[in-house]
Amino acid sequence: MISYAFFQGRFVPLSEAKIGVMTHAFNYGTACFEGIRGNWSSEEEVFYLFRPRDHFERLLKSCRVLNIELPYTIDEMCNLTVQLVEMNSYREDIYIRPLAYKSSERLGVRLHDLEADFLLFVTPFGPYLDIEKGIKCCVSSWRRIDDNMIPPRAKICGLYVNSALAKTEAWENGFEEAILLTHDGHVSEGSGENIFLVMNGKLVTPPTTDNILMGITRDTVMKLAKNEMGIETVERQIDRSELYIADECFLTGTAAHVTPVIEIDHRKVGSGGVGKVTHELQRLYFDVIRGKNRKYIDWCIPARPKLVKA
Ligand SMILES: Cc1ncc(COP(=O)(O)O)c(C=O)c1O
Repeated sequence: MISYAFFQGRFVPLSEAKIGVMTHAFNYGTACFEGIRGNWSSEEEVFYLFRPRDHFERLLKSCRVLNIELPYTIDEMCNLTVQLVEMNSYREDIYIRPLAYKSSERLGVRLHDLEADFLLFVTPFGPYLDIEKGIKCCVSSWRRIDDNMIPPRAKICGLYVNSALAKTEAWENGFEEAILLTHDGHVSEGSGENIFLVMNGKLVTPPTTDNILMGITRDTVMKLAKNEMGIETVERQIDRSELYIADECFLTGTAAHVTPVIEIDHRKVGSGGVGKVTHELQRLYFDVIRGKNRKYIDWCIPARPKLVKA
């Protein structure tokens, strides 16, 4: 089975989508990306791509930060994504990676006077963290990068070294995920997820100014909590010690979905199991991303893979 990518303006076999070693983005991290889930429905034989328009809108914002001008509109990028998913013959949950990068093969640290390219590839992708049992987290010794260093509201490739340092430190110390604090010690986010606490019947999550990525899953969960459960979200600074006294905690992200956090820094969160609010939000969320809740069907774009002969 050949996999395809969109690379340098056309669809090519994935094995031919290669960049040179002198590529600016490879040397200096001058690229930005997105991750979009394609959720496979075996009953309907269709992928539901979840909120691709919002992902491409965010990609274009990241491009503005990096001085990258793409020759595609949001609609065009959505259409290219649907075409690519339909060309590939996966029949399971997938992850679509759009990436905009400084493609010039030239040395010199800068953002100006460089060409850019846009690519897409697709890969099968199941659960990223344990969404059933929940996970154990630690507060990282690495701090979240500040807006005045590399803006975390943009999903910039080079920024992910910060996440990788925190994730591996957590993993080597026996935790599944790291929670990063801002430079002044407030809770920011996970290495690849936004964070929510449940406190006194409300959701509490860090504000955009605490160096978070403005997550699309974060937004989805806030809307579902309000519309379907009548639960408000308070966006405010969170102290580290609030992590230890919250009733529930969960992480959100395209890869992580809604992942319950059952322990932080060796302290049980609530009773140490998956909390009621988290559980109900997970149920609502999975129906929505799998196209089963018609009320939110506008968030999903269908893609039907072509039938391939065995
Ligand atoms: C650092 C970081 N924060 C938060 C998120 C969650 O964002 P989203 O829900 O849009 O995937 C991600 C994942 O993309 C991320 O990498």
